[in-house]
Amino acid sequence: MSDPELEGAPAPWLNELLACPFCRGALVSGSEDSLSHGEGGFECLSCEARFPVVAGVPRLTRESACRVARNDQEKDRKTLAVRKAFEHQWRAFGSNPRIFGKTREEMRELVTGSRIGPWIDENYYRDRLVLDAGCGHGRYVQEFAEMGARVVGLDMGEGHLVAARKGLPSHLKDQVAWIQGDLLHCPLQLDQFDLVFCDGVIHHTRDPRLAFARLAGLVVQGGSLYVWVYPRGGRLWEATHRSLRAVTTRLPPRVLEKLCYVLAPLLAIVPTYSSTRPSRASFSECAQVVYDWLSPAYQSHHTEDEVESWYREEGLLKVARLPVAVGMIGRKEE
Ligand SMILES: C[S@@+](CC[C@H](N)C(=O)[O-])C[C@H]1O[C@@H](n2cnc3c(N)ncnc32)[C@H](O)[C@@H]1O
Repeated sequence: MSDPELEGAPAPWLNELLACPFCRGALVSGSEDSLSHGEGGFECLSCEARFPVVAGVPRLTRESACRVARNDQEKDRKTLAVRKAFEHQWRAFGSNPRIFGKTREEMRELVTGSRIGPWIDENYYRDRLVLDAGCGHGRYVQEFAEMGARVVGLDMGEGHLVAARKGLPSHLKDQVAWIQGDLLHCPLQLDQFDLVFCDGVIHHTRDPRLAFARLAGLVVQGGSLYVWVYPRGGRLWEATHRSLRAVTTRLPPRVLEKLCYVLAPLLAIVPTYSSTRPSRASFSECAQVVYDWLSPAYQSHHTEDEVESWYREEGLLKVARLPVAVGMIGRKEE
C-alpha cells in the first residue's frame, strides 16, 4: 500500500540540476511514462537512458536505469555492500534522538559554527543552493532548509532516503529535493551549488580522490566545498582496525547490528570522533556509532596535507583547515 507521506512529485526546480549518470546529458521529466511504479521518471536527452521516480525520489543510479543491460551494471560488489550496510544503519538507528552522538541542535551548531568554516553562519544559507552529498539520515538537509536554503539531499541507497523524507516537516517540502545517486557517477550538472557539504562520505567510496573531484565540479564559481574524512592514525592503530574490520565487514548487517549492542559499552573507554559514550548517549545511540565504524566495506583514512592538496589540484584556492581533523572548506574563485 502506498504511504501518503511519501507521495508527490520531486520539486520542479530540481529538473534543471539533473544530469545523466552515464553520459552527463540533461534529463527531462517524462511524467506520463509508465516507468516502474507509475510515478513518472526522467529521460536523458542524449543517450535516452530512463530513470524511475519511486516514493517521490528520482532513482538516478546506473542500476536503476530502465534501458541498461545487466552487464552494464555496477560490478563493484564492495560498493553494493557499503550501500546495504548504510541502508540497514538508517533503518535500524535512523530515528534515534541523537545520531553520531548529536542532537538536532548540535547538528545546527556544526553547520553554522567554527566547524564548518569562517565564512559560513546562519545568515549564509538564505536563498542558497546547497547539496548534502551522502545525506544518509537527512538531518543536515533539514537544518539547511530551516535556515532558508534550497537543498538537494543525495545518497546512494534508498531505504534511508525514504526515512529522511518522512521525517521532514511539511513547511520545508518545497525547499528540499531528495535523489538517489552515486557520487562517482554523479547525476548532477556541474557548477551549480553555492555549498557542497560532504560529511563522512568519500572515505566510504572506491576512489575518494575521484569522489572529491566530482564534488568540486558541482560547486559554482565563488561557492564552497566542505569535506570531512577520517584522519589517518598511527601504524598500530591502523593495523588493529584493519584486522577487526576484515571480520566485521563480512558479517550480515543484522548480525553485526546485534554484535554492536554487545560492544556498545566499550565506548566508555574507547574514544570516538563524535565523542559518543554511554554516560551521555543511549545504548542504541552507542551501537549506531560502533556499527558505523565496523560495517562499511570501504573505509579509508587521510592526512590534512593530502586533502588540502586535493583542494588545490581542483582549483579551490581559499582553503581553511577546520578545528576537527580532517575537516576542510575551500572556495572556488569567482
Ligand atoms: C557515515 S554516513 C554520513 C551521513 C551524514 N553525511 C552525516 O554526516 O551524518 C555516509 C553516507 O554516505 C553514503 N554514501 C557512501 N558512498 C556513497 C556514494 N558513492 N554516493 C553517494 N552516497 C554515498 C552512505 O549511503 C551513507 O548514508
